[in-house]
Amino acid sequence: VHHPPEPFRIKIVEPIKLLDRDAREAAIRRANYNLFSLRAEDIFIDLFTDSGTSAMSQTQWAAMFEGDEAYAGARSYFRLAEVIGDIFGFSYFLPTHQGRAAENILSACLVKPGQYVPSNIHFDTGYANIRDQGGHPVNLVIDEAHNPTLYHLFKGNMDIQKLRDFIKQTGSDQIPFGMITITNNAGGGQPVSMENLRAVSQTYKEFGIPFFIDACRFAENAYFIKLREPGYADKTPLEISREMFALADGITMSAKKDGIVNIGGFIAMNDKTLFEQASNELLIREGFPTYGGLAGRDLDAMAVGLREVLQEEYLAYRLGQTAYLAERLRELGIPIIEPPGAHAVYVDAGQLLPHIPQEQFPGQSLSVELYLEGGIRAVEIGSLGFAHPDPQTGQMVHPKLELLRLALPRRVYTQSHLDYVAETLSKTAARREQIPGYRLIYAAKLMRQFTAQLEPI
Ligand code: F0G
Repeated sequence: VHHPPEPFRIKIVEPIKLLDRDAREAAIRRANYNLFSLRAEDIFIDLFTDSGTSAMSQTQWAAMFEGDEAYAGARSYFRLAEVIGDIFGFSYFLPTHQGRAAENILSACLVKPGQYVPSNIHFDTGYANIRDQGGHPVNLVIDEAHNPTLYHLFKGNMDIQKLRDFIKQTGSDQIPFGMITITNNAGGGQPVSMENLRAVSQTYKEFGIPFFIDACRFAENAYFIKLREPGYADKTPLEISREMFALADGITMSAKKDGIVNIGGFIAMNDKTLFEQASNELLIREGFPTYGGLAGRDLDAMAVGLREVLQEEYLAYRLGQTAYLAERLRELGIPIIEPPGAHAVYVDAGQLLPHIPQEQFPGQSLSVELYLEGGIRAVEIGSLGFAHPDPQTGQMVHPKLELLRLALPRRVYTQSHLDYVAETLSKTAARREQIPGYRLIYAAKLMRQFTAQLEPI
């Protein structure tokens, strides 16, 4: 299969180094077997996240020099407002320092204790922000999403029948807003089709429920629609994006993904009352509404990044790179979620390590071994991050899949880096029987994966 070469060349380089095996063992022990606690300099290839880790272009760096650091009404704000208006089309927006700040503000404004917020699958930060207000996040993705080998073009779609049933059963007065995540990160980075977005939008509208999109990877989702959905082949990613967002009442956005910046985010909406309420929340938590916790130069970098991410050559390279890694892993017999998404390849750790039960975190085991084998950092998306107590019974509910995510920062690693990753994972899998499970020795109540301490069993 042909994958397009990088539509850029390298102008600034950042050296990386592979520690020897003894040093890697010492480092992971010091980190209590949690890769969040490693020092970044102890890592050779960092596929922990595609969030805030991407390489900015020369145009973005140049734009930063023009950043206007005025406290209020800076030129940077108006430049960003123009871009956001053009792509997303909502009446109002507020910059935030990152995505979870936007989620926090939305939940603080709208969620009352005991209420429910449906989505395909909430990402952990949105999930935690809803729970933090006493609400219940609910995941209503199509059943196909839980079958890792089943090929489905839009595995991030929401199950419309489940959504309708859920709303009728719960009562729309108990649902302050509904969401959908594009692409569906916690479900394998899978896209949502325009047809499904339309149906979700109509359903929420029918019941008078405001509809918000978690839009972190909107450009990648738009490009999947272009490639896979009938009627979109001749539309540009920008046109497709506009069509997606015209269906919603607002979005939360982490620009650390498809804004191609190292920090930044925003919330946008059409409702004036919500905007006023959100502005007040923003003033308490983030800053004045024209900068929202960011420097003027950050707003300028975001304005340029949001344009660059919609370029077709970029998106073709981006999706091609992920597809290349997936092909290599497939050839080497590593089980992955099919088809791969755009920002990451998800290894099915549960299937690779069947001797490790879910309570012993097979995804975490694999992440530790991959670091030990070749200095690669990836992230567990499984029971460590997503198991939660059932609100009624208090019993631990485990996620359906135990995954290890290899996320690709944008414009950062080359094809030979990806070859190294595939070969290292293959060596790790070759000695799978010797890989131990883990137990927790420390866990926080919410988002425990970030600070958990573990030990091998
Ligand atoms: N929504 C989705 C779908 C995300 O993937 C993330 C972040 C957020 C919201 C929160 O954004 O980090 O700017 O506050 N995901 C990162 C990841 C952390 O690694 O997938 P943030």
